[in-house]
Amino acid sequence: MKYALPIRAVLSCLAFASAVAAAQDIVALRQADMKAIAAAAKTISGMFKEPTTYSSLEFKQAADTIRDKSGEVLIGHFSEITADPRSRATPDIVEERDRFDRLANDLTAYASALSTAAVENPQAMSDSMRMKPGEPMGGGPLGIHVRSEATLSSIPAEHVFHLMLQTCATCHSRFRMD
Ligand code: HEC
Repeated sequence: MKYALPIRAVLSCLAFASAVAAAQDIVALRQADMKAIAAAAKTISGMFKEPTTYSSLEFKQAADTIRDKSGEVLIGHFSEITADPRSRATPDIVEERDRFDRLANDLTAYASALSTAAVENPQAMSDSMRMKPGEPMGGGPLGIHVRSEATLSSIPAEHVFHLMLQTCATCHSRFRMD
């Protein structure tokens, strides 16, 4: 009984330490996921720049990586924002949860559309995947928030990809420190 208090103190200390470790792990995990997302986006970007390097399989794998690491998974990684010197996430994420979640889900919608485009173009990067010269990037009906799968499947994959990159930039400018 004499030891009851100190032991409890030690245990709660351990619990605190492991909570801190878990919080640090989630920071490492979400940063690793973001790096994987960035690498996948780079793979896709490279194929649009150099269409002869297009591989349906690699394009799809990259799109699927982004799809699987966005949406609910991404949201879950930012469910708590604790002070961590390594993290560049801003506390705004907690205050503007809906906006953050919508951007995370947009990423999934764009990535899914890209994955579908890869399946539909098994051989080469077709013209239908490419943006037409002079196609508006930000303005026009496509400049608005595109959500429905049907709308996304009716526009060229390259355009979807640019909308995706805008989503990265929008989220970072609001929720990531410089
Ligand atoms: C819903 C918001 C959101 C979206 C969408 C998003 N990011 Fe991020 N990203 C963040 C936040 C927040 C961080 C900072 C995480 C931290 O340091 O804890 C981050 C960090 C990063 C990092 C740095 C990782 C590191 O090593 O610290 C890279 C690279 C990155 N994002 C790339 C991308 C790319 C590419 C896209 C789009 C394809 C994207 N992100 C989409 C929120 C987002």
